[in-house]
Amino acid sequence: MAWIRLLICVLPYAAYIAAQNPEIVDEIWPEVQPIGRTARINCTVARLKNNVVGWLHVESDQTISSAESIEINNPMIGSLRKYEVRVRRDGDRITHMLVIRRLRQQDSGSYQCFVRISSVDQSEWPKKIGTLTVQVAPTIKTGDTTAVLQVDRNQNTSLECAATGIPAPNITWTRSDGGLLPILPKPVAQYRGAKLPLVNVDIQHMGVYRCVADNNIKPPAEHLAEVLVFHAPSTRVVQNSVGQAQNRRFSAKLECIVQGHPQPTVTWDRQVNQARILITDDDKFDINKQTTDNQNLKAMEQWYSLKVKNVQANDFTAYYCKAENQYGNHSSRIDLFETTECQGSNCPSLAPSAANTLMLSAFHWVPTMLLGIWALR
Ligand SMILES: *[C@@H]1O[C@H](CO)[C@@H](O)[C@H](O)[C@H]1NC(C)=O
Ligand SMILES: *[C@@H]1O[C@H](CO)[C@@H](O)[C@H](O)[C@H]1NC(C)=O
Ligand SMILES: *[C@@H]1O[C@H](CO)[C@@H](O)[C@H](O)[C@H]1NC(C)=O
Ligand SMILES: *[C@@H]1O[C@H](CO)[C@@H](O)[C@H](O)[C@H]1NC(C)=O
Repeated sequence: MAWIRLLICVLPYAAYIAAQNPEIVDEIWPEVQPIGRTARINCTVARLKNNVVGWLHVESDQTISSAESIEINNPMIGSLRKYEVRVRRDGDRITHMLVIRRLRQQDSGSYQCFVRISSVDQSEWPKKIGTLTVQVAPTIKTGDTTAVLQVDRNQNTSLECAATGIPAPNITWTRSDGGLLPILPKPVAQYRGAKLPLVNVDIQHMGVYRCVADNNIKPPAEHLAEVLVFHAPSTRVVQNSVGQAQNRRFSAKLECIVQGHPQPTVTWDRQVNQARILITDDDKFDINKQTTDNQNLKAMEQWYSLKVKNVQANDFTAYYCKAENQYGNHSSRIDLFETTECQGSNCPSLAPSAANTLMLSAFHWVPTMLLGIWALR
């Protein structure tokens, strides 16, 4: 029974040896840093003695370091290197901190700390793994994101907003004009999710929708989508009657607000006797489309104007702005009526007394001219 006696002698010794071997104490805390910043991963070893601590990148199976020397390609970053190992001693414990600078997305992954013990097989070396997460600000994937959605009335459809980022961003939908989102069970101002389901879409849902992808890494990404609903045009007037004085080279501006999709063709008529006659853009009339007046326009509305130049007696009649597309047509009426004084913002800004003087001198001038003509005969 000599071998039992040997075992009894050897076992405590083996346990003693094991206790004397190096050990990685505690967990290796996961490191999380935004792209471009510096990561620091710590491995703390007790009883290291003459053994060597190394770091290995698990995914690529590359040994990064052995003690303080870096064993892989280690480019300069500014005045420092991409990788560095810093050693800190605290009594019996030694911490090897792996520093990784100017983080890229591919630096993410698992980093294994190991202690090389020359007398022990590699499979028995103490090892522990820490993870590095490189955070990436969100980006919208434009290919998978709706830019313009055109839809018939009363259809069910959806807007998509695809975004990447680490961690995966939260996606929030709102309407640019602050309106509610037409979703079930009831409309809300804000919707969380990549896919915004739109139910029973109608004209009031036209407009610009905004999706924001946010993962707390600045800056959040934003995308605008436009919803267009096919429908017949509607017209409305700014003022249903406009006054102007005749015969004094004053002009009158009639304004009409138009909505419809596809964009309607807009024309103007004027009433002559009992008929409505199409107005063409000639010396007498200026037809204009004003594109930017966000204060007065609702989403998707357009502002048209008709300028009647040098208002005369026969210009005092009814005018109609008409809008038409393949879904239908609509028109609104504006009356031009006579006033004694100039109306609008383009009136001569003479003080009343000066205006009177001018009128007097004009009246004075007419008989003088007539006299002159009479004298020429
Ligand atoms: C590693 O240690 C350094 C210095 O003490 C510390 O700044 C860093 O946050 C630690 N890393 C982790 C992932 O805890
Ligand atoms: C749209 O969805 C609503 C609610 O689920 C349903 O009542 C309606 O019939 C759907 N409309 C169409 C055109 O599928
Ligand atoms: C997403 O939103 C939830 C709830 O507000 C929040 O707990 C989580 O941290 C957010 N995720 C990201 C990646 O920002
Ligand atoms: C306008 O629409 C009506 C039906 O709503 C149609 O009868 C008429 O022909 C249309 N007018 C024009 C100019 O298209």
